[in-house]
Amino acid sequence: MKKIAVMTSGGDAPGMNAAIRAVVRSGIHFGFEVYGIQYGYKGLCEGDIIRLERHDVSRIINRGGTVLGSARYDDFKKKSVRKIAVKNLLDLGIDSLVVIGGDGTYRGAQALSEMGIKCIGLPGTIDNDISSTDYTIGFYTALQTIVESIDRLKDTSLSHQRCSVVEVMGRNCGDLALYAGIAGGSEFIVTPETGFDKSLFLQQLKTSHETGRRHAIVVVTENIVKPHELAQEIEEVSGYETIATVLGHVQRGGNPVAFDRVLATEMGEYAVELINKGISSKAVGLKGMDLVDYDIVFALNKKREIPNKRYGLVGRLK
Ligand code: F6P
Repeated sequence: MKKIAVMTSGGDAPGMNAAIRAVVRSGIHFGFEVYGIQYGYKGLCEGDIIRLERHDVSRIINRGGTVLGSARYDDFKKKSVRKIAVKNLLDLGIDSLVVIGGDGTYRGAQALSEMGIKCIGLPGTIDNDISSTDYTIGFYTALQTIVESIDRLKDTSLSHQRCSVVEVMGRNCGDLALYAGIAGGSEFIVTPETGFDKSLFLQQLKTSHETGRRHAIVVVTENIVKPHELAQEIEEVSGYETIATVLGHVQRGGNPVAFDRVLATEMGEYAVELINKGISSKAVGLKGMDLVDYDIVFALNKKREIPNKRYGLVGRLK
């Protein structure tokens, strides 16, 4: 009987469980024996591999995080370490692996493919920073969490005529800030894609205050500014009393929204279909309404398209 495995790696994302469930149940549907690798590449090297049956993935489609656990594991860049991983898989007779994660996870899968393990990558990260898919599993759930927080901040900012600086995750990708800015009706967004001209930004906020706007919401991608310091500068220059809020890991948790569950389920099944056809080294993505698959190397090198029109929208509507 063919044996396949599934694992989650890198930062967890809501919807990963739905993907695991789909891989396990589709695998069983095709007559495969399915295994789960716990705690990503680290667990793979430590032999942390368990058999998964249909009932093991019951009642997880609605749960955030990942029941398999996840890890960031830099040692996997070493070939000597990867050899241990390959041995652990082959000792159990597993030759195919579905990995769910971000770019780092894909790089690990590519390296394993070169060593003879058939890998399929599914995009699981809240950041939406994988260029081979329109949307990643987890993005819309994190976005929903952020927008709900912005709505709350807006209530209190308006009541006190304040400015709110909200820092969101995204690493090097501004999509969470961009979409949250649009959905939350924010006045300003600062992302890796917009860059940050501090004096122009402060001037705009000053003008906003002078022209009688009662409050302002500024959504910022992490790692660009120090939110509390920026809040102080806004207060000094613009006249708005300003509060900074760093949303942090709250954005990663919570039950996946329906979109993420459907996307993850469809992608999970698609991955198993590829394995069943003997296809490997692929990254699954969503393009428009359709699922597609790209060579993993191509997917890793593909340039991200910047949604310029969407960026313009925030400025035009403020
Ligand atoms: O990649 C997902 C993500 O949540 C990023 O947005 C963030 O920069 C990073 O992971 C945080 O990683 P960790 O949970 O390891 O601190």
